[in-house]
Amino acid sequence: MAIPVILDVDTGVDDALALLFAAAHPELDLIGVSCVAGNASLERVVDNTLRVLALAGATDVPVAAGASRPLIEPARDAGHVHGADGLAGVVLPPADRRAEPEHAVEFLRRTILAHPEPVTLVALAPQTNLALLLRLHPEVAANLARIVFMGGSAGVGNATALAEFNVWHDPEAASVVLGSGVPLFMYGLDVFNHVAVPRERAQALAASVEPLPSAVGWLLDHRIAAPDGTPGDYLGWIGDAGAVCSLVVPDALRVERLPVRVELAGYGRGQTVVDRREHPGEDAAHGLTTEWATVDVALGVDAERVAGLFLDTVVPGA
Ligand code: RIB
Ligand code: CA
Repeated sequence: MAIPVILDVDTGVDDALALLFAAAHPELDLIGVSCVAGNASLERVVDNTLRVLALAGATDVPVAAGASRPLIEPARDAGHVHGADGLAGVVLPPADRRAEPEHAVEFLRRTILAHPEPVTLVALAPQTNLALLLRLHPEVAANLARIVFMGGSAGVGNATALAEFNVWHDPEAASVVLGSGVPLFMYGLDVFNHVAVPRERAQALAASVEPLPSAVGWLLDHRIAAPDGTPGDYLGWIGDAGAVCSLVVPDALRVERLPVRVELAGYGRGQTVVDRREHPGEDAAHGLTTEWATVDVALGVDAERVAGLFLDTVVPGA
């Protein structure tokens, strides 16, 4: 039985790769996509998402537009990473359909509660839509199998030295999700930064005359520009797609169930603190406890296996 999934995205180069994988893998039933501002503006994200689903031949998957900015912070895009268009200049044909008329929060509420099986909600973006959903309609938790989120890090950050972009963009939203009581799986930078496609393979795909492999190749070969605009080195990361792959090959990841919280103040704002201590410390001894969520945290990954699954699923034989 295919796993019913909803993706919450800020498409986004790697969100695009995640959408292509989710639409293609037979063990996943992509029942909807919600959009949020993050990598690009909400309007850009919605348009990119519709275009990517058209490329995947998944024009039957409903798309809904959600929050155009974080709960507290202003919207800050990641144009230096994903390009002004959010797809690193990869031009896809315009979609010939529009997003659902309702707000993503209402779309998520209705879709989750109406599904006959518990739904897996995969958050690949700032978690603003999820926080609004869980605050406005906490009853949805009863039909959520779990929330799998690409976000956070047990180690170094990317948006700042300590914080990962999705959580840094809307720390309050991430904190609401952590406190929701829904089973949580964290696919953070500890694994996100390691799953990559070899350069030669990406460039061979980019050279294809077929639209799908060509787009995948160019998306994999996008470069993160330095602040002065100098293009970065080849990375080949599948990024968000790895979080979706983890639904299909959970045994490809090394996971520990750990206490996690989000810092909301100071330079560490947006940091996911993952408590990997073997024994309680002075904080517990002196009653300096704080709110911790219990989260399944991915700390290691068979990167080659996951990258291979992605390619075999999205561009088989290419
Ligand atoms: O930090 C990486 C995350 O931020 C990815 O989801 C990427 O798409 C951006 O949203
Ligand atoms: Ca994303």
